[in-house]
Amino acid sequence: MAKDVDALLSQLTLEEKAALVTGDGFWHTRAVERLGIPAITLSDGPHGVRRQPADQENGIGGSYPATCFPPAVGLGSTWDAELAERVGAALGDESIALDVQVLLGPGINIKRSPLCGRNFEYFSEDPLIAGELGAALIRGIQSKGVGTSLKHYAANSQETDRFRVSADMDERTAREIYLAGFERAVKDAAPATIMAAYNKLNGVYATEDPWLLTQVLRDEWGFEGLLVSDWGAVNDRDAAVAAGLDLEMPESEAGPAAIVAAVRAGSLDEASLDAAVRNVLKLVFDHADLKPADGTTLAVPSEQVEEHHALAREVASRAAVLLKNDGGILPLSPDASIAVIGEFARNPRYQGAGSSQIEPTRLDDALTEMRKIAGPDVTFAPGFTLDGSGDAGALTRDAVAVASAAEFVVLFLGLPSAAESEGYDREHIDLPADQLTLLAEVAQANANLVVVLSNGSAVRVSNWEGGARAILEGWLLGQAGGGATADILFGVTNPSGRLTETIPEKLEDNSAYLDYPGRDGHLSYGDGVFVGYRWYDARELPVSYPFGHGLSYTSFEFSGLSLSAEGADADLAVHASVTVTNTGNVAGREVVQLYVSAPSAEVRRPQNELRGFRVVALEPGESREVGFTLGYRDFAYFHPVLERWYVENGGVDILVGASSRDIRERGSVELRVNEPVVPLDRQSSLAEWMKHPGGQKVLAGVMQQAATQNPEAVGMFQNQELMAMMGSMPMRRIVRFPGVGISDEVVDGLIAQANAAV
Ligand code: BGC
Repeated sequence: MAKDVDALLSQLTLEEKAALVTGDGFWHTRAVERLGIPAITLSDGPHGVRRQPADQENGIGGSYPATCFPPAVGLGSTWDAELAERVGAALGDESIALDVQVLLGPGINIKRSPLCGRNFEYFSEDPLIAGELGAALIRGIQSKGVGTSLKHYAANSQETDRFRVSADMDERTAREIYLAGFERAVKDAAPATIMAAYNKLNGVYATEDPWLLTQVLRDEWGFEGLLVSDWGAVNDRDAAVAAGLDLEMPESEAGPAAIVAAVRAGSLDEASLDAAVRNVLKLVFDHADLKPADGTTLAVPSEQVEEHHALAREVASRAAVLLKNDGGILPLSPDASIAVIGEFARNPRYQGAGSSQIEPTRLDDALTEMRKIAGPDVTFAPGFTLDGSGDAGALTRDAVAVASAAEFVVLFLGLPSAAESEGYDREHIDLPADQLTLLAEVAQANANLVVVLSNGSAVRVSNWEGGARAILEGWLLGQAGGGATADILFGVTNPSGRLTETIPEKLEDNSAYLDYPGRDGHLSYGDGVFVGYRWYDARELPVSYPFGHGLSYTSFEFSGLSLSAEGADADLAVHASVTVTNTGNVAGREVVQLYVSAPSAEVRRPQNELRGFRVVALEPGESREVGFTLGYRDFAYFHPVLERWYVENGGVDILVGASSRDIRERGSVELRVNEPVVPLDRQSSLAEWMKHPGGQKVLAGVMQQAATQNPEAVGMFQNQELMAMMGSMPMRRIVRFPGVGISDEVVDGLIAQANAAV
C-alpha cells in the first residue's frame, strides 16, 4: 500500500503523532481513521506464530494453534541457513493466515552462560552462527511479505534483573561478540524492525542509547527499518525518541503524554518525533496489504498444518546432536528388545516457557513414534514425574525391572519446563536429582544404555556420562520432535546436528562464572571476547564436548586444503577449498567448519574463531569440494584505540575441521594490509614513540642533534635497561626533567612531525 508519508505527517497533530509511536493494546499499532492510516499486528515468535485471539490479548496465555518448529537451540544445531530460510517461509505463510504482519523474531543474543533462562531461544555462543541463521530466518519470513523483529538489541544475555541490569563491556567486546550477529543480520537480510532490549549497555538503557540505536545501527550499518521497544522496555519515552527508538510497545498512557510535554517544553526536537512517525507509517503501509479480509476465520490452513509438521520433523531430525555412540550402539535395530524409560518419552519437552510459547497444531511423542517403527513390544516405564511428585522409589523400581528385562534401554532425561524460562536463569546446570538417581540405577541394571536429552541449553554430563553408551542431545525439538527422535534412534535418518554451544565439564569452567549474574545493577563482561569456545581454548580447559562437535552413523575425511590470497586492505580476499569424502556405509551430512587463527602483536585474540561453515550431504564414497572466501573483516579485530576494524600484517592460519577441537586440515596465508598507526600525542610513552614509524624517525633526528650537543643523552638512549624502565613514561614528563630543557611547544612540534612522517 503506497502512501505519501510526508503528506500524511504534515496533517497529523502533535497528539496524534505522539499516539502513533506507541502501540494500541498489546499487539497492534494505532490506526488514525480520519487519515486512512490502518493498524497492523505484531506477534511472537520466533519459532512459531503466537497470535492471541482478540478477547485474550494480554501478552500471556492462549493463542491460535500454529506449527511449533524447533526453537533456535534446535534450528541452530543444524548449522543450515537454507533450512532456516525454509522454516522462515513457513512462518511467513502462517503469519499471513493468522493476520500477523510482523513476527517478533528471530532472537540472536549470545549464549554467554548456560544458565541464561532464554538460551533455548538463541542460536549460539558464536556470533557468526547467530547472525547467519538469524539472517536466513529473516529472509524466509520476509520473502512472504511479513516483517520480522530482530531481537534483543543488544547484550541481553541473561534474564536475571533483565529490566534494569547494565551489561558492562568494552567496545571491542561489544563489536566483536555481542553486536556482530546483529550487524550481519542487518546487512544481509534487512529486518523490517529491530527490538531494543530491556537491559542497559554500559549504564544506558538500550531503548535510550543514541550510540546503539542511531550511530551504530543506522549510521554505520545502514538500518532503514523501525526500532521497536521490547514490551515494557521504555524507561524515559522522550529520551527514547531522541535516541532513535520509533515505536513503544505495548500501549502506554505515559509514553504519548511524555512526548507531548517534552516537545511543548522544547526539550525534545519535534523533528526526532517526526522521524519516528515516518518509520511507523512506512512499516504500516509496507505491511498493511497482508491483512486478510474482515471476518476471515483465523487458522493455519490444513494443507499448511500437514506440510509444516513434516518440515518441523525434518528440522528436528537435523537438529539433534549425537554426542557419543560407543561401539556404534546406535542405530538400534527395530527387531531388538527395547525398553523406553522416562516421562519425557510420552510427554515431550519440546519448547521453552515465556513469550515464545506456541500452541502446537499437533504433538508427536517419541514412545508412540518408536512403537510405530519397532512395534508394540517396546516396553515403557515413566521413571520420574514431570513435577517431581510421586513415589520416586516405586518409579525407580519399576524402571529398573523394565530395563533389566530388555536388551537395550533408551532413557529420556532432561530439564522440566520450570527449570528454564524467559524471565529467570538457572542456578546450576545439573539434571534434576531424581533423574540422576534413576540414571545410576538403570545403568546398573543394563549396560546397553542410550540417553536422550531434552533441554534448552547445556546440562552437565561429565558426572554421569560414563554410565551411558550413547547420548543423543535432543535440545528442544518442536512439535514433531518425537518422530524425529525415533527416526534417528532407528537409523531412518542419520544424525547431523552439531553443537553451537560448548558443553563444559562443570559450570565453574564457564567464562561468565565469576561475574554472573552481577550485583547492584551491573553485570561485568570481564571475559571480554573470550566467550564460549574462545574461552575454553584460551584457558586450555578440558570440556565434555567441544563447540562444533556431533557424530554421524558414517565417517568423513577432509583432504587437500588449498589456500590463496589476493588483494589488499578492504579488497583482501582469501580463498580456501577443501575436499570432504563420506568414507562410511550410509549417506550423511558433514558440517565443514572453517576457523581463522590470527595471532596479534597488539591485543590478545582468541586462538581460533569460526569464520565459515557449510553443510554437505554425501552418499557413501562420494566426495565434494567445499569453497570459502574470506574478506578483511574475517581477519580483523576491533582496535580499541583507533576505534575501527583493524588487520595486522603478516601470516594467519586457516583451519578446517569437524569441531573447534577436531581440526583436520590447516594452512597459512600472508595478508597484505596497510593500516593506520595510532597517532602519537602528548601522553604517548617513550616505548610508543620507539614503536611508531614516524616517532622512530623523529627520535633518530633528535639523537643526531643531541650527539653533538649532549652526548650523555645519547648514552641514555643506548642503555637498554634504562630504556625498559623509562619505556612507560610519557614523553611530556621526560622533557620536564631537569636539564632536558625542551618545552611543550617543541614536543608538540615533534609530535606533529612524527605523525606526518608515517
Ligand atoms: C520478550 C520479547 C517478546 C515480547 C512480546 C518480551 O517480554 O522479551 O521477546 O517479543 O515480550 O511478548
